[in-house]
Amino acid sequence: MPVRLVVLISGTGTLLQSLIDACADPAYGAQIVAVGADRDGIAGLGRARAAQLPTFVCRVADYDDRGDWNEALADEVAAFEPDWIISAGFMKIVGPRFLARYGGRMLNTHPALLPSFPGAHAVRDALAHGVKVTGCTLFTVDEGVDTGPIIAQRAVDVFERDTEDTLHERIKVVERAMLIDAIQELVARQRTSEGEHS
Ligand code: GRF
Repeated sequence: MPVRLVVLISGTGTLLQSLIDACADPAYGAQIVAVGADRDGIAGLGRARAAQLPTFVCRVADYDDRGDWNEALADEVAAFEPDWIISAGFMKIVGPRFLARYGGRMLNTHPALLPSFPGAHAVRDALAHGVKVTGCTLFTVDEGVDTGPIIAQRAVDVFERDTEDTLHERIKVVERAMLIDAIQELVARQRTSEGEHS
């Protein structure tokens, strides 16, 4: 049985698209069972629908407080019985009520080499600091902001002429490959441990 993924997004969904493409090969070992977003009208949801994947939208503004939103998001996710949740450009921090149910099973990609430049403006912050090398990080989400255990990282050179957009686009190329490769490795590792325990 392929590993079941729920992918959470907030934007254009190019990371999602690379996962959709990878999962099209049964040998990849993972399957996207749903795509969730914190807002409507984003290109990423169009990509999900084009791939005939179930989608859901869970907006913070529709709930009395952040805790209720976390619970509602966890309920939406739970309906699809995922093994892992992939936050792929999902611009919301999940809190204790979500992590109580999915802690250790939610992975997030970040466009910088953590622990440098956590937060929502990682590319801008790295550029402003004047670093010559930045990159991307895949990590397991914990209660902090971009503080969880690191699973994979890849480096990207910063060029003199880079703007936030040009640098982010180059990071995203590397970030997509990192995400696809890391999930494949995690699936293989899970298969091995299941084999050892059966
Ligand atoms: C990625 O760089 C992700 O790390 C950041 O937003 C970007 C998502 O891009 N938070 P896309 O929506 O997958 O194209």
